[in-house]
Amino acid sequence: MPNTLETHPEILPQKQTSTARRGPKILFVTPEISYVSNSMCNDAQRVRAKAGGLADVAALLVDGLKKRHRDLHLALPNYRQLFRTENGGTLTESKRVHLAEDCHFYRRHGVYQTSRHDLLRSALAFQREVIHRIIPKVKPDIIHCNDWMTGLIPAAAKRLGIPTLFTIHNIHTERPTLAELENNGVFGADFWEELYFENYPENYDESYWTNPIDLLASGIRAADHVNVVSPTFLDEIRYGHHENIPGRISHLLWEKHAVGAASGIVNSPDPSFNPQKDSLLTERYKSKTHHEAKAVNKLALQHTLGLDENPDVPMLFWPSRLDPIQKGPQLLAEILPQLIQDYHDIGLQIAIIADGPWEQGLHDIVNAHGLHRRVAVHGFSEPLSRQGFGGADYVLMPSSFEPCGLPQMIGARYGTLPIVHHTGGLKDTVQHLNIEENTGNGFAFEHFDAGGLRWAIDEALRFHLSDESIRIKQVTRIMEEAARNFSPVEVVKQYEDLYTGLVPSFMGEARA
Ligand code: GLC
Repeated sequence: MPNTLETHPEILPQKQTSTARRGPKILFVTPEISYVSNSMCNDAQRVRAKAGGLADVAALLVDGLKKRHRDLHLALPNYRQLFRTENGGTLTESKRVHLAEDCHFYRRHGVYQTSRHDLLRSALAFQREVIHRIIPKVKPDIIHCNDWMTGLIPAAAKRLGIPTLFTIHNIHTERPTLAELENNGVFGADFWEELYFENYPENYDESYWTNPIDLLASGIRAADHVNVVSPTFLDEIRYGHHENIPGRISHLLWEKHAVGAASGIVNSPDPSFNPQKDSLLTERYKSKTHHEAKAVNKLALQHTLGLDENPDVPMLFWPSRLDPIQKGPQLLAEILPQLIQDYHDIGLQIAIIADGPWEQGLHDIVNAHGLHRRVAVHGFSEPLSRQGFGGADYVLMPSSFEPCGLPQMIGARYGTLPIVHHTGGLKDTVQHLNIEENTGNGFAFEHFDAGGLRWAIDEALRFHLSDESIRIKQVTRIMEEAARNFSPVEVVKQYEDLYTGLVPSFMGEARA
């Protein structure tokens, strides 16, 4: 049984009556969240604003903390179009859910738009609301910020004496000037000395027009503690392993880590990713029944995607954005026709259920080689993606870098073994399978190139062609270990420990 809040209610602390016993008042600040629970606000089912993994992890933490009766407040932009009620009404602010108001959020149909101007404008409007309205209203004991869109908040909070935790989910940043801050209503003069400027700031006026402020670096610099979503990604940044991560970020994290103010916490998939309970699967299953149930799910998926309908063929599943900077779809594109040809006799199939810049490129390859019955390229959809985890045999994640990554853990839970580049969070969560020693949970390659990916896929298919009883035994073990090891409860507890460590007056009260 997975160790989730749902299946182990006994780990929840008893409801406390005195607010002092509920630990510090936490303000959780995020620009996206996949869902919030009913206990946070009326109309909770309307609050869905997801662009990527940050939304899933934010939802998991907010839900887990609330279930453990923590004194929790949430700040997020009021995306009116996304939050609209059935009769066209708008969501209203509640006691615990604070909506940042700005016309910029009102008319859009997605969480982010892609131009730099739009991203920055949103981030500044959001932070203006949090800094100047929501923090004074909530009066939190601690603020938990997430990614560059919240990077000014630790500096502002420092001036108010409120400790902050800054979580790095990804390395994107923007670099506005003080003038841009003020033009968007953020009064930087209050806390500019805590920010990270590209050039040493002599004084406010000198820096005002031309000295860019790095928002990610500012969050790291001013926060009392910084956590990265896996220990390996933290080390990779500190040691400068990734060319696309600027030296200033490595340097800042190196300094924070040296004084015990930086750590790594691996995310967990949401408890709803449980093959025993997932209502979006054609057939739900336990570790012991995965073999038969996955065949049923595979047939249903093949039918939907227009692939040859045969439950005995191996199927690879691509779950994440087709983004060549991070996720490595170009590696798959490079080997695709040859791979399908080499495994023609066993009928290898690939289900790509994802959006992103490489979508058209993959369609072109499928069309040029007539691979339609073997390779499906379908835009992202949550139900289809869940069916991918439930029906495919292997999950592909050849990321060039990966702060944490969730699909490899979801895959292991569903008995869909991950094939990954050994980097960042993928290194912390996937070990190469060793049948003799009964260890490992997937297939990992070390060199980020098409040859590396091909090697790992060959390894997976060698396993696939091994004795069926061996395969079933290994997949069963992997599913059971994943349910135990990738535990939402443990992740929530690690964050609680950080919060109480930052607010010493609550020490000793965090763990129930
Ligand atoms: C980002 C990262 C991903 C991580 C997620 C949640 O999407 O790319 O690796 O799992 O944030 O922290």
